[in-house]
Amino acid sequence: MLCRRTASSLVALAPAKLNLFLRVVGKRTDGYHDIETVMTTVDLYDTLIFRPAARGELELSVRIAASGRRNEDAAEPIPAGESNLVYRAARALKQAAGIDHGVRIELIKRIPSAAGLGGGSSDAAATLGALNSFWSLGLSNEALLNLASQLGSDVPFFLGSTSTGVCRGRGELIEPLRALAGLAFVVAKPASGLSTPAVYRECRPEPEGTGSAPMCQALQAGRADRAAQHLRNDLQSPAERLNDDVARLACLFREQPVRGHQLSGSGTAYFGVCDSRAQAAAVAGRLRSRGVPWVQVVQSRC
Ligand code: C5P
Repeated sequence: MLCRRTASSLVALAPAKLNLFLRVVGKRTDGYHDIETVMTTVDLYDTLIFRPAARGELELSVRIAASGRRNEDAAEPIPAGESNLVYRAARALKQAAGIDHGVRIELIKRIPSAAGLGGGSSDAAATLGALNSFWSLGLSNEALLNLASQLGSDVPFFLGSTSTGVCRGRGELIEPLRALAGLAFVVAKPASGLSTPAVYRECRPEPEGTGSAPMCQALQAGRADRAAQHLRNDLQSPAERLNDDVARLACLFREQPVRGHQLSGSGTAYFGVCDSRAQAAAVAGRLRSRGVPWVQVVQSRC
């Protein structure tokens, strides 16, 4: 999370993520799945603006930035009010700190929802970190991590300064990875979204198989070509079975000059690994001309 303070507000940027590797290890008794995933944050951000409000007042407004508009017709509307993770993060923080402070939060969305890009989780983590500072609460990182894992499996990853990491358990156990930044990706999303629980219900865990070590080594060396060889996402087949748009995007990517390609998280966003930003921009143009409604060029962050 990146934060900037002005005289009367605090502005936070919440990055999107891509899952470069995702292995579903097994089903747990609590309804979740144990996973091993390598996530990297990219330079596509939602903006959150925190402004003072009267005691007890908790207000959230959400709007889609101009750059996100092409995805406005997406099947999944962005939840507002109490159903938004940002609202729930602010409320959880107030309860944990035992305070009744107020805040007005403006959320400007660029990261599409129901996409597997972690937008909601990143927004929630940014809210925890920013409000801890905005309200001068002084909650420890451990306390924030505890709240984050209650809000969602991906939220803890976004809380710290880790740009790339291996996440295990249900996703909340994070091992930071010193990866070289600047890998270029083209990311595309169809108009339809997918529900994470539905995709997990459809997947078949694979306890055996290669772990994330080769992918981690490729990222530490900053080698897009080698990273592309070790892409894996066990949620892609179930997502393709549930959503024809994902299967169509996979076909479109097979025709593109990318190093490798796959679904991010539970979808429906799909990405290609490119050699450079210029190559990613060329592929983005071709995907747009084939009618894909939302296409972005992004790079991994340091
Ligand atoms: O943790 P989060 O609220 O994001 O998870 C949403 C749903 O996705 C869970 O209720 C569960 O059905 C599924 N899930 C899972 N295993 C994970 C993460 C999520 O089965 N590791």
